[in-house]
Amino acid sequence: MKGVVLAGGLGTRLFPLTKVTNKHLLPVYNKPMVYYPIQTLVSAGVREILLVTGGNNAGDFLKLIGNGRDFGLREIDYTYQEGEGGIAAALSLAEDFAKGDRIVVILGDNIIEDDITPYVGEFAKQSSGARILLKKVDDPERFGVPLLRGKKIAMIEEKPKAPKSSYAVTGVYMYDPQVFSIVKDLKPSRRGELEITDVNNYYIKHDLMEYDILKGFWTDAGTFDSLLRANELVAKNLKAKAR
Ligand code: G1P
Repeated sequence: MKGVVLAGGLGTRLFPLTKVTNKHLLPVYNKPMVYYPIQTLVSAGVREILLVTGGNNAGDFLKLIGNGRDFGLREIDYTYQEGEGGIAAALSLAEDFAKGDRIVVILGDNIIEDDITPYVGEFAKQSSGARILLKKVDDPERFGVPLLRGKKIAMIEEKPKAPKSSYAVTGVYMYDPQVFSIVKDLKPSRRGELEITDVNNYYIKHDLMEYDILKGFWTDAGTFDSLLRANELVAKNLKAKAR
């Protein structure tokens, strides 16, 4: 299993914090934001990792992460996304890196308390398809929201005004190699982006999607409020562990 961290985009919802740097380089308590998703993959035993970045100051990632020594890695791969094409467009840059292997994709602004090893293990047992992680939230309208039917997801709606459940689709996605051909057939959404939710709905339509529900805390960090929340959750967690 290979890992892909998506850390591109312009971070416009955090402007002017992102005027001179990339969102994923901003601090979350005592570490740069992008450290958390990288650590989530490394802790799950993923050793081959591609970081997709873009926008301004992409070179700073190399300065910060280098060969990934802070994470016990021997090396880490990098690629650059031009423009703002959306999460699925960023993912398409990982095709050569994946070389036909399965991938675990994680959004660079997602902070996850859980060790995702068991979920990655369950995905490895699937004969094909995809697997996503859900989390119960107070504000599902900010996210991709699944309609659950027992052990299956009936569909996902991206940022619905009237959410059909109180779960968010978190930014951890596990895909088999057909993901790259699915992305190639996508049409841009109303906001002009290739949506990861459309990729996930393709798998759902073909009955190839499984899911797990995260137990620990989860948050994105792409808005002022969620960035503050991410800082608070990480700080609280570290202090509780130190006690
Ligand atoms: C993206 C996805 C959304 C998902 C979220 C998780 O939203 O489009 O489905 O729930 O990440 O962080 P964005 O942060 O691009 O608004």
